[in-house]
Amino acid sequence: MSDFDGRAATWDQNPLHTERTEVIACDMLKRMEWGPSMRGLEFGAGTGLLSFRLAPYFERVDAMDVSSEMVKVMHAKVQALHAPNVFPVCHDLVAAPFCPGKFDRIFSQMVLHHIADTKAILSRFYEELKPGGQLALVDLYTEDGSFHGPDFDGHLGFDTDRLSEWTLQAGFSGVRVFPTYVLRKPVGGEERTYPLFLLLADK
Ligand SMILES: C[S@@+](CC[C@H](N)C(=O)[O-])C[C@H]1O[C@@H](n2cnc3c(N)ncnc32)[C@H](O)[C@@H]1O
Repeated sequence: MSDFDGRAATWDQNPLHTERTEVIACDMLKRMEWGPSMRGLEFGAGTGLLSFRLAPYFERVDAMDVSSEMVKVMHAKVQALHAPNVFPVCHDLVAAPFCPGKFDRIFSQMVLHHIADTKAILSRFYEELKPGGQLALVDLYTEDGSFHGPDFDGHLGFDTDRLSEWTLQAGFSGVRVFPTYVLRKPVGGEERTYPLFLLLADK
């Protein structure tokens, strides 16, 4: 069982998760281009907070996570929220392609820092998008390691200039970065702040 499997059942009870999703969803709605009949993919959807929020703007959303417990929660929410256009899927996009060339939009929040090979996943996103598709990634700006603590082996946020360069190298154009939300989290008895960016790019 992964760490995320164990956190799935109570994930939505944490206001840190729900509040950031609302602000990020509004920012994506404001800054991205939207049209009819679009198919979206959320990478690392967790319990699908962002997918369910954005679902009315898509014909279909594939809400992907590698944690089977997260996917189980999403299946229950499809029923509970009457959201038949959200399709939860258990898949590891790092390990294998999903539906290359099929997506108008790929979006993700707070997942990229968990992925060891950033350049490889950017290339995978490019492959999964249709020509004219858009990518939207939300993650931490470079941080001091306090966000996850000493045992974390992922990225300590991102230098957005370097990430933009890697995004261009993956084939994208029009890369732009916006500050989107400031996370507040208690760490070692005090409240710390962690700003997040929204990176947009076009295929
Ligand atoms: C920090 S959680 C964020 C969940 C959700 N995006 C949110 O903000 O509420 C990261 C999620 O990414 C998923 N994940 C990590 N690596 C993945 C991969 N290779 N493919 C699909 N999902 C992955 C984890 O299982 C976890 O649910």
